[in-house]
Amino acid sequence: VSQQLTGTLALAVFTAALGSLQMGYSLGVINAPQKVKRTIRHYARSLGVYNEELARREGGNATEHEEPTDASVVMYWSLSVAIFAIGGMVSSFLVSFVSDFRGRIKGMLYINVLAITAGLLMGLSKLGTPYLMVIAGRAIMGLYCGLSSGLVPLYIGEISPVKYRGAMGALHQLAIVIGILISQVIGLDFLLGNDDMWHVLLGLSGAPAILQSLLLLVCPESPRFLYIKQGKVEEACKSLKRLKGDYDTSKDIAEMQAEKEEAMKEAQMSILRLLRSSVYRQQLFVALMMHLSQQFSGINAIFYYSTSIFQSAGVGQPVYATIGVGVINIIFTLVSVILVDRAGRRTLTIVGLGGMCCCAVAMTVGLAFQDVYLWMSYLSLAAIFLFVSFFEIGPGPIPWFIVAEIFSQGPRPAAIALAGCCNWTCNFIIGMFFPYLEGLCGSYVFIVFAVLLFGFTVFIYLRVPETKGKTFEEIAAVFHRKRGAPSSKPQEEAEMVQLKSSTEA
Ligand code: GLC
Repeated sequence: VSQQLTGTLALAVFTAALGSLQMGYSLGVINAPQKVKRTIRHYARSLGVYNEELARREGGNATEHEEPTDASVVMYWSLSVAIFAIGGMVSSFLVSFVSDFRGRIKGMLYINVLAITAGLLMGLSKLGTPYLMVIAGRAIMGLYCGLSSGLVPLYIGEISPVKYRGAMGALHQLAIVIGILISQVIGLDFLLGNDDMWHVLLGLSGAPAILQSLLLLVCPESPRFLYIKQGKVEEACKSLKRLKGDYDTSKDIAEMQAEKEEAMKEAQMSILRLLRSSVYRQQLFVALMMHLSQQFSGINAIFYYSTSIFQSAGVGQPVYATIGVGVINIIFTLVSVILVDRAGRRTLTIVGLGGMCCCAVAMTVGLAFQDVYLWMSYLSLAAIFLFVSFFEIGPGPIPWFIVAEIFSQGPRPAAIALAGCCNWTCNFIIGMFFPYLEGLCGSYVFIVFAVLLFGFTVFIYLRVPETKGKTFEEIAAVFHRKRGAPSSKPQEEAEMVQLKSSTEA
């Protein structure tokens, strides 16, 4: 099997990852904690609510530094934050439909209509009713991101040579964190994060879609889709050669043929069928737990919380410390890209989650005692940077691509849809309820995450097999073995036979 890296492969991965960049930008533009209040202000101004409210209360002396107290403004703002995750939850269910409809490339191309529409709505929101247009834009962008966070890892996983599949899969997360940093930097006050330019800041989130649409036109379709789903042998060979150079494709074709035979046994899996199937229960459990651990590690809570910790640690410009977190984010995702195919997914996830657990404890200690000992605030500061670093080493990037690895062609899109939905739902839960949890637990809030992280670390240690360097077929076999010999599970065997006969019929 050729393991060559060609220009076309690089272009295809880069093009797909533009979708992830866009997602990171949309996450960051709203996630950036230091901007939330300020954005409420811009946003409120644009709504006209804030000025009127202040004018009424203070005789028209609305100043730059005042923040709105009007509940409706906060409500509109929270809605535009929440509706993004809700969009992601809803559309992630459609990943299997969109990816199988006309293929991965056309899928990514079509959904760009959503991103561009969302960008236009937000970018032009000053011309119409801003709050409605922003909320609609965020909702549509959420729909786009739910689809793209499934399609991108799916396509990249299918076109990558086994040897580099981890590194290439991790590029999805790398592009996300680059997108987050870009939005944090151009969201600075003196760039686009001000009253005059905020609509451009939001509108720009649609820009990568334009470039991606152009580049997709020259990217090869996934050979697995062509061969396994469509039975187009010649086109699959052509696509393989474009991706890997001029080589003997017979080994790759044989591997896909084996997967196709497996897929024939499996039938086309709908989401419901996958949920009911006991054959895939093990894989599905692992996939969902990987995504649960990514979100319930508290990473997005950190993004919200860091500014106040930086403030209490005496950092003069917490905005820049948060950008520092963004930079660390990128550096350690790069470390993961380099390590993931050597150290393996399992090791990096265990080290990452375990490290995050220790950092969460350190952060709690630091927060609890910072009033007693001044230096304790530096402990929390260091703990935040390390927490993010450990996250990006494994628990950040790996869940996104491991689902495509542990499922074979038949159930793969349905599994990606379910895992994506789980991710977006947990993202929404953390975004909505973290402030309440914080109110309840105060500085001990991260103990909750420490306990969860400990549990996830133990789970991964006990239940997740290594997938590094294995073909899709070999990975399926590992799970098969873990389940025990099929004959020892008559129900599963019966289910296999039933699935088989339904495809043959
Ligand atoms: C992952 C998470 C996302 C988070 C990001 C931070 O992609 O899915 O929710 O904001 O990492 O780097």
